[in-house]
Amino acid sequence: MTDPVPPADLPHPTDHPNAAGVRRVAVLTSGGDAPGMNAAIRAVVRTATHHGIEVVGVRRGFSGLHRGNLALIGPRDVANTIQRGGTVLLTARSKTWRTPEGRALGAGHLRAWGVDGLIVIGGDGSFHGAHALQEEHGIPVIGVPGTIDNDLYGTDHTIGYFTAVETALDAVDKLRDTGASHERIFVIEVMGRHAGHIALEVAVAGGAEEVFIPEDPKPVDGVVQIVKDSVAKGKASSIIIVAEGFPGGAQGVADAIEAGTGLETRVSILGHIQRGGSPVSSDRVLASRLGEAAVYALMDGVRGVMVGRENGAVVHTPLHETWEKRKDVSRDLYRCAKTLSV
Ligand code: F6P
Repeated sequence: MTDPVPPADLPHPTDHPNAAGVRRVAVLTSGGDAPGMNAAIRAVVRTATHHGIEVVGVRRGFSGLHRGNLALIGPRDVANTIQRGGTVLLTARSKTWRTPEGRALGAGHLRAWGVDGLIVIGGDGSFHGAHALQEEHGIPVIGVPGTIDNDLYGTDHTIGYFTAVETALDAVDKLRDTGASHERIFVIEVMGRHAGHIALEVAVAGGAEEVFIPEDPKPVDGVVQIVKDSVAKGKASSIIIVAEGFPGGAQGVADAIEAGTGLETRVSILGHIQRGGSPVSSDRVLASRLGEAAVYALMDGVRGVMVGRENGAVVHTPLHETWEKRKDVSRDLYRCAKTLSV
């Protein structure tokens, strides 16, 4: 079978009309860094350049914006960055940006630079800041979902999530080796301040006996029976995954296990290691698509939305909905985690 031949009049895939007449955009990364943020910056810069639009890079997120840390950046500035973790623009969590005075300073800098729109790569806290800037000063903003937590409504996945899962899973596999050798229980805490996406994915992929997520704040006592049952079935060691945002965290779960079973239990908090490292391909590609989509949104005259991907297509979600509506964990996967832990 041969591939269908595209019709001759198919528009060149890189043609995108600049209906809004955008000439210059700014881009920043904000909040917790996430692997793939560099790929998103690169996509913004290269999409804009391709369409004759200049890009101003803002260093240190909103903190740098109110201080005036702005400079023109071009395609060569983002060369050799797609594979790098962290963010070449640096990031921060800014208290000053939460004040109207701080945002007025930032708006002044964007106006002085002749910027037609601002692209903010970050999580819900960053989108609050972007939304306020647009509401108060009329500067068009577009959000790009960049957080390992995957907790933004309006996109199936956020940039950095896939890499964080791989990093956590690698650690779980290693902890399983030592846990099995010592016949111990390992309670492993993964990131996710308010969400259990990483925990659930890692629990299923890592073959955990039990998983605790903030979306289901169940009593920890149940784990005692689960561990006892595991021992009775001949399992000498067990892996329990706990999301950081679960009440009491990994320590609370480990204390309950030791008190209820007397078995040797160790806690391992994976922490910020999950935010680092070279992004996996899924994060690079997602970031590339969404960076491109963010520039196209501004060119189309769209403002105040997050660009995301749902069911394989780019979607726009009003910024306020990304934090007002809740993206639930996959209940199917949660059930699957239970079924497979026998
Ligand atoms: O990026 C999101 C996140 O990783 C959360 O899961 C975590 O609670 C938080 O960042 C920690 O952020 P920081 O230590 O940078 O304030």
